[in-house]
Amino acid sequence: MQYHKNILETIGNTPLVEINSIAREIPALVLAKLETFNPGNSIKDRMALKMIEDAEKQGKLKPGYTIIEGTSGNTGMGLALAAVIKGYKCIFTTTDKQSKEKFDALRAFGAEVIVCPTNVEPEDPRSYYSVSTRLEAETPRSWKANQYDNLSNSEAHYRQTGPEIWKQTEGKITHFICGVGTGGTICGVGKFLKEMNKNIQILGIDTYGSVFKKYKETGIFDKKEIYPYITEGIGEDFLPKNVDFKVIDHFEKVTDKDAAVMTRRIVREEAIFAGNSSGAVMAGLLQMKNRFKKDDVVVVIFHDHGTRYLGKMFNDDWMRDRGFLTEEKITAIKLIERHRNKPLVTVKESDTIHEAVSKMRKYNISQMPVTGGTEDSFTGSLNDTELFMKLLENPKLRDEKVMQVVQAPFPFVSPEAAVEEVSQLITPDNHAVLVKDALGETHIITRQDIVEALC
Ligand SMILES: Cc1ncc(COP(=O)(O)O)c(C=O)c1O
Repeated sequence: MQYHKNILETIGNTPLVEINSIAREIPALVLAKLETFNPGNSIKDRMALKMIEDAEKQGKLKPGYTIIEGTSGNTGMGLALAAVIKGYKCIFTTTDKQSKEKFDALRAFGAEVIVCPTNVEPEDPRSYYSVSTRLEAETPRSWKANQYDNLSNSEAHYRQTGPEIWKQTEGKITHFICGVGTGGTICGVGKFLKEMNKNIQILGIDTYGSVFKKYKETGIFDKKEIYPYITEGIGEDFLPKNVDFKVIDHFEKVTDKDAAVMTRRIVREEAIFAGNSSGAVMAGLLQMKNRFKKDDVVVVIFHDHGTRYLGKMFNDDWMRDRGFLTEEKITAIKLIERHRNKPLVTVKESDTIHEAVSKMRKYNISQMPVTGGTEDSFTGSLNDTELFMKLLENPKLRDEKVMQVVQAPFPFVSPEAAVEEVSQLITPDNHAVLVKDALGETHIITRQDIVEALC
């Protein structure tokens, strides 16, 4: 029989999957390590278990203790998993910037979650760092994991994630790219990989609003670099002990918008439902495309799962409110949406003007294509203003043929023509345009369709 003694034994050994569509402009082989396959759906299960096991060995964490941590959710999930199996209580502090789904998931494991304000200094007594420190002091028999400065964090990746990547790529990896928060992942994996081959490039993804990149490049901790940002899981406003700047060759900053838009592309183009920092990593990879050559093997980390961002990056209203959703282009084929299923009303050249006017009245329309010999030979057009003027001048026209008063045919546009192009064709002399759908059916686009699509 093949089975695990408990869920904790399923942590690690996550798959490497080639990125095809998004990486098509990168000459190298790009492989994503899908940490969503861990039982808590994130890479953090690895370091959470290691921090707990090391604390147990050091006698800092004993049966009946409460685990306390400031966590954006994923570390909390890893700690909560282990706590259920090992019988600890958990209290987590987190920020109001994080997805609600993350808090709810932690509460599902029986953890207590305290939500603190995001936009305060780390030293502020209301910050999630300070609140967790205070809770540790006030709670008897408690242990604060402290993922930022607890070196068991990067040690977990040095001992486990790094060797997995080395083995899976048969030592062929040339670049490792990873979002940097506590720094545990990049520095643990990076240290191991550099020991195996010092030429492997370790590239960190940072956010605008975080101090890492400037600190690496200048050695200056610049408070002016710090401002609120939206990307989750990466970037910091202080220097955690797990970030070993010597291991990281370069930091690339990615905007909130690029990270969010790419998070959506990953699931739509690769069918991999990954979280926001995976979007940041892929956007950063494309920004750095000139670094990679044909035979390179690039490994990127997908830290967590897309379900944690359903209310954010995967919610159209949330994206639109922040100006992240590039509005879809309105094309000719979209303009006919309202009446796509209705047949086109036409009149024949040989019909009488009286018949044409009756049709316009019956269908409540102001213009109509005129057909010649066959149904789809559009030889002319009629519009009610012109007809009205001509009938006023000569009422006897009503019994004449349409061909006596016909005007130039409506022009055809391509289904993909932009609304701007279509609207330029609608003038006082030309009241509509025609477009064929994928089935070859002809539809009419009038000024009314354009107004409705734009409003
Ligand atoms: C979603 C996500 N991505 C990336 C990271 C950064 O990983 P690390 O803390 O190992 O630097 C985190 C850390 O919390 C995270 O939750």
